[in-house]
Amino acid sequence: MKRLPWFAWSGIFHSAWVYAIGTPVQLDPPLGLPPLSIPAANPLTREKIDLGRRLFMDRRLSHNNTMSCAMCHVPEQGFTSHELGTAIGMQGRSLRRNSPTLYNIGYHLSLFHEGRELHLEDQVWGPLLTKVEMDMPSIGYVVEKVRLLDEYKGQFEAAFGGPVSAERIGHALASFQRTLISGNSRFDRWFYGDDKSALNLREQKGFEIFMGKGRCATCHWVDEKTALFTDHKFHNTGLGWERSMFPERNNYKVQLAPGIFVQVMGALLKSFEPPQADVGRYEVTLDTKDRWAYKTPMLRNVAITRPYMHDGSLSTLEDVVEFYDKGGIDNENKSPLLMPLKLDSEEKTALVAFMNSLTGDNLEALTRDARSAPVTLPVLSKDAADLYMDAVLAAP
Ligand code: HEC
Ligand code: HEC
Repeated sequence: MKRLPWFAWSGIFHSAWVYAIGTPVQLDPPLGLPPLSIPAANPLTREKIDLGRRLFMDRRLSHNNTMSCAMCHVPEQGFTSHELGTAIGMQGRSLRRNSPTLYNIGYHLSLFHEGRELHLEDQVWGPLLTKVEMDMPSIGYVVEKVRLLDEYKGQFEAAFGGPVSAERIGHALASFQRTLISGNSRFDRWFYGDDKSALNLREQKGFEIFMGKGRCATCHWVDEKTALFTDHKFHNTGLGWERSMFPERNNYKVQLAPGIFVQVMGALLKSFEPPQADVGRYEVTLDTKDRWAYKTPMLRNVAITRPYMHDGSLSTLEDVVEFYDKGGIDNENKSPLLMPLKLDSEEKTALVAFMNSLTGDNLEALTRDARSAPVTLPVLSKDAADLYMDAVLAAP
């Protein structure tokens, strides 16, 4: 443990000493990405990252010890889940939205598809407490359960200088997730580096369409020195509107055996749970103009983060390009930035080829790092609920 004393100086010498706990970690941005800003209240340290990784992979963070964060944000699948349009959580219950990738998540200025959270430190309580996700009964329950798990003994002390708390669980998970940075793709080496052969002619043509005729960069921003491929804003493309207004038009992809899918018309699935309402950004602002607007995703690593859009309704990049070529789906609040593009088939192929060049060079390393978390038994020797009740009864 490295202790860095520092003091406030304001004419007189203060006696207050603040200890920075742990080994500081500096994240150097790879080619194509800006420096990542780290909140002053949660400086990155090796100890917090290690603890966060362990929590992220631990199935005991769910009520019945089945779901970890990594089961919807699967490291091998681009920290999303390929086979599910909308995520499936506790006891097979369906979520209304697609699991977004966590690559470069530290750069997002708002979190969730409608941006209802602002900080990774707070975001974790969404999945932990949501009935259909990890279904923990309360914040206090999570804290108590982690406190009782042997593997975490001493770890919070090493990372924070004190015992398990709700805030520290959020800080550790946020620290781990901030390390999931990925850049230096072939595109970066071609555009920001000096490797002019890193993209072939078709991919270069795709970039030209992305910036020009396709109008993609009006929302998926590319800056002079770096690119996050997002404007950090919310737009209505029509998908959410159609899903809400005409749920019977949705085709559900049903898996019959590994890798074998059939498309089933939503209208035929009478036994499905009624679709959950989803009005996008409106849920945060209560401004009717924001109905069915969703956050512009970053497109880095998009080749391996399928399926696409907030509802996972588009399975391939070809489908996404077809969708934009038609100008999205018309509705009263559709973004004025979307209109039919009239791309020919070679232009569509080039656009897809360009998006396939956005894959970072360290994805295997990130997966290996995530899987290096110590594996712990998913089931407690004693039922979590019993342990919790013991603790409640033992409390003075
Ligand atoms: C049951 C599947 C599931 C589990 C388990 C789960 N997530 Fe998610 N995650 C999702 C879905 C679906 C969304 C999008 C939800 C929304 O927009 O309302 C999401 C969104 C997020 C986001 C915001 C991403 C963005 O681009 O804005 C972060 C960060 C995140 N999850 C981290 C976690 C962490 C940390 C855990 C564990 C504590 C976790 N998730 C557990 C499915 C899951
Ligand atoms: C009006 C702003 C806007 C424009 C223009 C735009 N996009 Fe998007 N893009 C978005 C938003 C918003 C989403 C998320 C929609 C959702 O979640 O339902 C998105 C989603 C995507 C996705 C899915 C990413 C994921 O991880 O799910 C891809 C791929 C994509 N856009 C590519 C393109 C391409 C290629 C173009 C140009 C042909 C383009 N976009 C033009 C705003 C825009």
